[in-house]
Amino acid sequence: MFVLGIETSCDETGVAVYHPEQGLLAHALYSQVKTHAEYGGVVPELASRDHVKKLIPLIRRVLGEAGLTQRDLGGIAYTRGPGLVGALLVGAAVARSLAWTLNIPCVGVHHMEGHLLAPLLEPDAPEFPFIALLVSGGHTQLVEVEGIGGYRILGESLDDAAGEAFDKTAKMLGLGYPGGPEIAKLADEGRADRFDFPRPMTDRPGLDFSFSGLKTHTLTTLATTEGTRQDKADIAAAFQAAVVDTLLIKSRRALRETGLKRLVVAGGVSANRLMREKLDDMARKEGYRVYFPRLAFCGDNGAMIAYAGCQRLLAGHVEPAEIRAQPRWPL
Ligand code: KG4
Ligand code: ZN
Repeated sequence: MFVLGIETSCDETGVAVYHPEQGLLAHALYSQVKTHAEYGGVVPELASRDHVKKLIPLIRRVLGEAGLTQRDLGGIAYTRGPGLVGALLVGAAVARSLAWTLNIPCVGVHHMEGHLLAPLLEPDAPEFPFIALLVSGGHTQLVEVEGIGGYRILGESLDDAAGEAFDKTAKMLGLGYPGGPEIAKLADEGRADRFDFPRPMTDRPGLDFSFSGLKTHTLTTLATTEGTRQDKADIAAAFQAAVVDTLLIKSRRALRETGLKRLVVAGGVSANRLMREKLDDMARKEGYRVYFPRLAFCGDNGAMIAYAGCQRLLAGHVEPAEIRAQPRWPL
């Protein structure tokens, strides 16, 4: 069964074809970053319009690259939520219409389930059960994963998501959007130990996070300096170290408390190099194994949706043929 995956929840149009035995056959991504950069964040209406323009050409391209036609498809998966309602509706309308004309099943996938399963597209995939650390622009969650659909939230952010904290802090430092890669780049020129940043909520039990205080801390620290490039680089390095340490401490706590040995890290922030290095290091020292998606699949993409949808369809998941978006949807 060839499954077409469609991702349009935010500012990337992602399309892919996945087959249970043949694996990932083709994938393509169109990033709208340039469209939104001048506004310093995603403009929902512009996002929807860009998805409308790009989605069908991308589907044609991916099918061509996979050597398939529409008629070869056995199912279609699209991101049903969470995300921007207009952007989601573009994917939902195209996916449902195509599935209806081809008379094949269609499934609406949870965006974070897509992220969570992305490392399973890699050759050295983790076995169930595992702990997943989901770190994106909209979510920060620790999840105990028993199998496909078996998710127990152990902890989550009470305010800003980790990626959101990167984006907002980048804005304060006068950097561009998206802020995560910009902060990581500037941090390479800085020293993480010049300023002392807190590791929020690590000194008390529990697995929840809170990142909004780090923004205030960034502002007050910045105000104590002249605001030179070096000052900002040192602040970026201290901020990044604080977020990474906090995520590491809580992930390790989740592993210890559940007795699980495998940690999966996914979502846009999982592309962060310092985080990958530090988590790898911790895992090696403490007898755990950590799994990341390839860099191209850390952020939003169609491959993770094709994969998650395929697993759902194989498990016999059936849903009504309605064009449905769910902007708010707990995992
Ligand atoms: O998963 P994603 O592409 O979209 C959502 O589902 O939200 O995540 C986007 C987030 C943004 O906040 C972005 O700043 C962050 O991931 N991000 C990073 C890095 N690359 C992307 N954060 C830290 N370091 C990075 N290298
Ligand atoms: Zn995402």
